[in-house]
Amino acid sequence: MAVIEVRDIHKRYGETVAVDGVSFDVDAGEIFGVLGRNGAGKTTTVEIIEGLRAPDTGRVRVLGLDPTRDRRALRAVLGVQLQEGTLPDKATAGEMVRLYRSFYADGADPDRLLGELGLDDKRDTVVDELSGGQLQRLSIALALVGKPRVAVLDELTTGLDPRARRDTWELIEQVRRAGVTILLVTHFMDEAQRLCDRIAVFDRGRIAALDTPGGLVARTHGRRGASLDEAFLAMTGTDDEGDGLDDVLGGAALDEDGRARDGAASGGHRAVRDGAASGGPRRDGAPSDGADGQVRS
Ligand SMILES: Nc1ncnc2c1ncn2[C@@H]1O[C@H](COP(=O)(O)OP(=O)(O)O)[C@@H](O)[C@H]1O
Ligand SMILES: [Mg+2]
Repeated sequence: MAVIEVRDIHKRYGETVAVDGVSFDVDAGEIFGVLGRNGAGKTTTVEIIEGLRAPDTGRVRVLGLDPTRDRRALRAVLGVQLQEGTLPDKATAGEMVRLYRSFYADGADPDRLLGELGLDDKRDTVVDELSGGQLQRLSIALALVGKPRVAVLDELTTGLDPRARRDTWELIEQVRRAGVTILLVTHFMDEAQRLCDRIAVFDRGRIAALDTPGGLVARTHGRRGASLDEAFLAMTGTDDEGDGLDDVLGGAALDEDGRARDGAASGGHRAVRDGAASGGPRRDGAPSDGADGQVRS
């Protein structure tokens, strides 16, 4: 049995079609990536899986539970990473983990968990005074303290420096080794490539492609050495709404400042991938980029 089953879900907000017929399965022990530019429907899909929103039509099961109907039971088996800024500033890391632990009948030992996440000496530090990387580790601790069988992590490493990102990746691999199935929403190609067994590329409310990282690259380019970055570009096609894609790519290519994306649709990242964002196969001067689907050997 798949741990997460998503069958033909649809969701609209007024005139906006956010999710337009999405189906996929996540297998036990998998790290499943959800990739796509802003507005593609990733968060809506993930929040439907978490039971935070109901789909208009379609069916979701998480470990056999219906997220809308069986919300309580789902809480016991599903760990959800909180976004930055949602924790009380004046609470300490230790207090937060103990509080969250108290929500579960069976959970992890708070002190051991903090130790495993490298927060041993931050137990008595208030949220306000934690660094970005430490906060992220705390949010992961809170997602894991209930010993979930499934964890949903939305934009796990947004805002982290390169060192902290790599540490976080190692942590996620440890979590997987502990048997937790992980649904990971990310804007970062390198992160998806490093961590994910399979990736669903979302585009305008649908899944444009679903494959292993290597499969996505091979499918698009048919040659070695192509990057997931290029595969993503080819799969999400033209940028007809005039925003989103270059922001996503700017985030992936340049910095970790994903937070600025929403408010800066035409901001300073644009130049990096301008040619790529303006539609069709990428034309960056590289010889035979293969985006037309031909195999070059
Ligand atoms: N609560 C909401 N009310 C109205 N529109 C929404 C709401 N949430 C999301 N949308 C719209 O639905 C689409 C998909 O959004 P979302 O699922 O957040 O995409 P992503 O996470 O891929 O950026 C976007 O056009 C977004 O503006
Ligand atoms: Mg989102």
